[in-house]
Amino acid sequence: MVQYKIEVTTGVLKSSGTWDQIYITLFGTEGQSERTELDNFGTDFSTGTTGTYTLSTDLSLGKLLLFKVEKDPFFYLPEDEWYLSKIVVMTPEGEAILFPCHRWISRGELVELRGGRALKGFEEDHPLLIEHREKELMLKKSVYHGIELKIKGLLGSAEKWESIEDMKNIFSWRKTTMSEYVTEHWKEDDFYGSQFLNGPNPNVIKRCSELPPNFAVTEEMVKPFLEEGSSLQEELKKGNIFLSDQKKMDGIPPRAYNGEPLHVTAGLCLFYLNPENKLRPIAIQLLQQPSEQNPIFLPSDSETDWLLAKMFIKNADAMDHQAVQHLMKTHLLAEVYTVAALRSFSVIHPLYKLLFPHFQSTLFINTGGRSTLFGPDGALSISSLGYDGLTELMRRALSETTYSSLCLPEDITARGLESIPNFYYRDDGLKLWSIINSFVKAVVEYYYPSDSEVCKDTELQEWIGEIFTHGILGNKASGFPESFHTAEELTKFITMVIFTMTGEHAAVNNGQFDNYFWMPNGSLLLRKPPPTTKGQSSMETILETLPNVGDTVNIGALSWILSETYTDVVPIGTCPKERFNEPAPKQMIKEFQVELSSLSDAITIRNLQLEMPYSYLDPARIENSIAI
Ligand code: FE2
Repeated sequence: MVQYKIEVTTGVLKSSGTWDQIYITLFGTEGQSERTELDNFGTDFSTGTTGTYTLSTDLSLGKLLLFKVEKDPFFYLPEDEWYLSKIVVMTPEGEAILFPCHRWISRGELVELRGGRALKGFEEDHPLLIEHREKELMLKKSVYHGIELKIKGLLGSAEKWESIEDMKNIFSWRKTTMSEYVTEHWKEDDFYGSQFLNGPNPNVIKRCSELPPNFAVTEEMVKPFLEEGSSLQEELKKGNIFLSDQKKMDGIPPRAYNGEPLHVTAGLCLFYLNPENKLRPIAIQLLQQPSEQNPIFLPSDSETDWLLAKMFIKNADAMDHQAVQHLMKTHLLAEVYTVAALRSFSVIHPLYKLLFPHFQSTLFINTGGRSTLFGPDGALSISSLGYDGLTELMRRALSETTYSSLCLPEDITARGLESIPNFYYRDDGLKLWSIINSFVKAVVEYYYPSDSEVCKDTELQEWIGEIFTHGILGNKASGFPESFHTAEELTKFITMVIFTMTGEHAAVNNGQFDNYFWMPNGSLLLRKPPPTTKGQSSMETILETLPNVGDTVNIGALSWILSETYTDVVPIGTCPKERFNEPAPKQMIKEFQVELSSLSDAITIRNLQLEMPYSYLDPARIENSIAI
């Protein structure tokens, strides 16, 4: 007679426990155990507890393969779901084997758990496991086939404000240090420029070495705003001129408002990095084609002309930010990576174990968001482009999205932003990228000692194939991989996936309230056409252009909800749900956590020196998966 010691851990979530009867059967290379009830004296399977049971067999079962768990009703009580976290088996040979579960089990459900070392498909050597893996993958494909993969698109008191000051009263109880700073400084050019580096949309500005031919700005116009004695040509050469070109918006029909179409501008905003290292806007053209009705606005224009021009640039920027940078590039692409992984990988696959913590909340938040936020009647449809316009914007953006633009180090270089000072999104983002990359490299090298292991891993190749076909719609020009040939390629891709779902999402998500709550600083909706001549505007024009009271409250609430942090934040790198059995990856996770925590400390210290701290990429505040 030999004995297996079995530790069963029930989850800590509310109502995780069950009164039902639990039966287990253990399968090994040398045979299987009797179907045995887990029953100790007293209450079993209470929330947050671990029970220890003994299972006896005549002889050793050999190497353990599978753990079958069944749940039967306790008398006639109604359904009583059980959240089983994990089972750890101590074999008679003295080995402890982890069988992770981390899911709810309903009555009558039969759950088969895989334990031990993470394995790629071709490493399975036991007929029982090969068959089990095939069945598992067939089932996973049928479960996840219905979820929409394609990026089809987002989404879904009429009084004007009496004064700008009145806007301060909405949600007066909900403030952040940053939102208050924005309220006070929104008109200042230094602050305006800094938001293109450290605001919620740090992804668009580029170094400009040559003006686009359709940008009618001249030397004379901007000379007063450059260093004395310098010229635009000289500053372009020195690399001190930057550009936000919103041409992607050009020609997209805006939505109707009170029976009339709204106005969306596809502007050009030129910035100058001055000798004090401040990035300032120095010229704005609101439409792509130069004309008399499309003047170049300058900081020397009347205060309200210049404010209006900056507001239209911000309006288009806010729509690009929400639809393209936030929704499409993080939420929706994350959904593609997630669904493809759920369909392609067995639960015992090492990359499934690696990626799962970063997929945790994605489907949940996206499913809810489809109706309330992105749907035709969702909150974002209030924007000037509306649902159809934002959908078209995303369609255009997806066709231009490259793999390289999603890989931060390459994107920073391509935009010429390697050396621009005070760019904390870049500084923190590159460090985070590098920490994720070292961790992923260690895990990949451990499970793929040679490139040929990568090539013959069919589950992995299927994963990337589905992403290429359904996520990037088979666009070869995107540079997205269609398959993996080397461990290096794989490491880079997984780094990009984890960075997107953690840091990049935090950078574009967490500052929404800080920056948009104060509507004049960046509104999704502007009600009046852009100015076509100079000297005609007043504060009244600005109030008529900004959303009315009701819409302001709606948009403000949206930015509030989307920046909310929850009490159950799971920060990047923490893996409360144990999935790896072998010591090597567990050690790698620990090292990853140490690196993240020292980055967090460094950011905290750096922020003490800043007038406006940049905290969106502090690992302590980054969620492990897209959860909001
Ligand atoms: Fe988000």
